[in-house]
Amino acid sequence: MAKITLDYNLAVAKRIKGGISDDELKACLGQAELGLSRLADLVKSGEVGFPNLPKQDTTTFKGIASEIRGQYNDLVVIGIGGSSLGLEAITNALLPLGYNSLSFDERGKLPRVWVLDNSDPSVASSILKYCKPKETFVLVISKSGATVETAANFTIIMDFLSKAGIDLKKQVILITDPQKGPLCEYGKANGMRMFDVDNNVGGRYSVLSPVGLLPAVILGLDIDKMLAGACSVAEGDKKRILTLAAIYIHYLKQKPIHILMPYSSKLRKFAEWFNQLYGESLGKRYDRDSKEVFYGNTTAIACGSIDQHSQLQLYMEGPNDKLVTFIGVSSFENDIKLNGELNEAYNYLTGHTLGELLNAELATTAVALSLNERPSVLLEVDRINEESLGALFMLFEYVVAIVGLAANINPFDQPAVELGKQFAYGLMGRKGYEAKKAEFTQLNAKSEEHII
Ligand code: PA5
Repeated sequence: MAKITLDYNLAVAKRIKGGISDDELKACLGQAELGLSRLADLVKSGEVGFPNLPKQDTTTFKGIASEIRGQYNDLVVIGIGGSSLGLEAITNALLPLGYNSLSFDERGKLPRVWVLDNSDPSVASSILKYCKPKETFVLVISKSGATVETAANFTIIMDFLSKAGIDLKKQVILITDPQKGPLCEYGKANGMRMFDVDNNVGGRYSVLSPVGLLPAVILGLDIDKMLAGACSVAEGDKKRILTLAAIYIHYLKQKPIHILMPYSSKLRKFAEWFNQLYGESLGKRYDRDSKEVFYGNTTAIACGSIDQHSQLQLYMEGPNDKLVTFIGVSSFENDIKLNGELNEAYNYLTGHTLGELLNAELATTAVALSLNERPSVLLEVDRINEESLGALFMLFEYVVAIVGLAANINPFDQPAVELGKQFAYGLMGRKGYEAKKAEFTQLNAKSEEHII
C-alpha cells in the first residue's frame, strides 16, 4: 500500500524562529476540521464528487485500452488546464524517459502520447507531421466543452482525420459533461463515443476520473493501483491531511509564496498540476458569503536538486516570504551505485548511490533553509509508482479543498478566469459575445506614446 509520511519538524516554532507554535497548530487544526466537515457536507449533498472517485468501476476504461493496444502508433490527447495537467503528471512520473522515442515493440505495442493543450501552432503542426491519421487515436477532454483552445485544436485534428477518410466514431472519444456544453451536444448529435466528467468533479480535481484514467490505461498503466493509492489516503490518512492543511492555513497568512519542490525529475509535472490545483482553488476575491477577502498565496515550483543551482540562493537569503513543501522519494527504482575511483577528488562518492545523493541534498537543503529561519515541510513517498502517485493526487486535493473551505472560500470555482475567456470569444467572433468584443476593443485602446 502507498505510504506517505509528513515530516513538519522544520516548520515548528521549536525548530525555527517564527515557526508555527503548538497553540497555533492546535487552532489551525480546529479550522482544518471545520474545512473537512464543510467538505463532508458538500460530498453528502452531491455538490462535490472527487472523494468518491477511488471507488469507481474501471472495466470500461480497460476495455477501450485493450481495443487500442497493438492497433495505434499514436495517442493524441486534446485538453488544457485541469483536462491535461493531471495526465502530464502521470506520464512524466510513470512512463520511461524518452518514451515517445522508443519503437512500437519497445513500448509493448502501446501508442506514443502527445498532449495538445496550448493554441500554439508549433505544437499542433508538429503533431500533424509526426502522426498518421490511420494510426492515431484521439481523446478530446473538456468538461465545459467550450474552452477555446480545446475547441480550436479539436477542429484541427478532426479535419486531419476526416480528410483521410477516417471513421471518427472509431478513432475519437470525447470526455465531457454528460448533459451540457458544445462538445456534449456535438458528440450526441454525431453518435460519438463519450465518457462523462461528472458535474460535481471540477477540472483540476478530475485526474482520477476518465480525464486522467482513460489515457493512463491506454498507455499501459495500472489505474486500479492508482485508485487504490488514492483510496488509502481518503480512508486512512485523515491525520496527515488535517495536519498539512493546518500548516498551510497558518503559513498562507505568514508567507505570500508557497514553493512546491519535489526532489525527482519524475515529479516536475506533478508540481505543475499542484500549481494549478492550489492557485486556482485558493486565489479568491470573495468568500462564500460574498465578503471581499482576497484569499490565497502564490505558488512557485522548483525541482530538486536542479533548482538548488538556480533558485536556492534566493530562497536562502532573499525575502523570508516562502514556505517550501518538499516531496522526497525514499527509494528509487534502478538506483545506480557510484564509483568515484576516476579521480581522487571524487573518491567520497564510492559506495553511495545516485538516489542517496539526491536525498542527501534534500535533507541538507531543508536544514540549511531552517538555519536561515525559512520553514519547510517534507512529504515522503516510498517510491514513485501508480499507488504513490494516486495517493499524492488525493492527498493534495483533500488538503487544498479543506484549506479553502476552512477560510469559507469556494475552492471549486474559478470565476475570474471567465472574463478573459469571454473577451477571447468576442475577439474570435463567437455568436453572443459581440458586446464583449466592443467592450474589449474600447479597453484595449493604446496610446502610441507608450509603444516604442
Ligand atoms: O480547473 C478547472 O476547472 C479549469 O482549469 C479547467 O480545467 C480548464 O479551464 C479547462 O476547462 P475544460 O475542461 O472545461 O475545457
